Amino acid sequence: MNEKVLAALNKQINMEMRAYYTYLSMAAYFESEALSGFAAWMQHHSGEEMMHAMKIYDYIHERRGRVVLDALPSPQNTWESPLRAFEDALHHEQAVTASINALVDLARAERDHATDHFLQWYVNEQVEEEAVVDAAIQKLKRIGDFGPGLYLLDRELGEGSGESEAEAEVD
Ligand code: FEO
Repeated sequence: MNEKVLAALNKQINMEMRAYYTYLSMAAYFESEALSGFAAWMQHHSGEEMMHAMKIYDYIHERRGRVVLDALPSPQNTWESPLRAFEDALHHEQAVTASINALVDLARAERDHATDHFLQWYVNEQVEEEAVVDAAIQKLKRIGDFGPGLYLLDRELGEGSGESEAEAEVD
């Protein structure tokens, strides 16, 4: 397959794995704060990121390309508050969206129609990814320092964490 597209896809695997690692670290942070619902939601989300990486891994092999894995940086381990963690998650999702869009541009410039088509799944997925994280941010902002609100949101997120991302939307 096209070398430039292959290199960019390998970079995207690393970015998805970084998201996996970052969200797993956020799950561990929530566990340490005794927010088990937040932790379950974030752990479920980290699993989705691993799936995003593996989808590209499988696609590269299907195209007879070579997967090359790179190192993962240490993730941040603590946050000032649940709101700050979710805000970081949104920034991460926005960076992933920008990276997917750049990949689509590259696939089109290189006339790699199959990869362009493959990436459309990610374009749609990112709309949902940003929306679910933003929905949690809006609720956390409304709750502020109100403890019972945080308790209820923790329960709500915990109940939705085993479902698909669409079903797990917090709104
Ligand atoms: Fe795989 Fe949340 O972007």
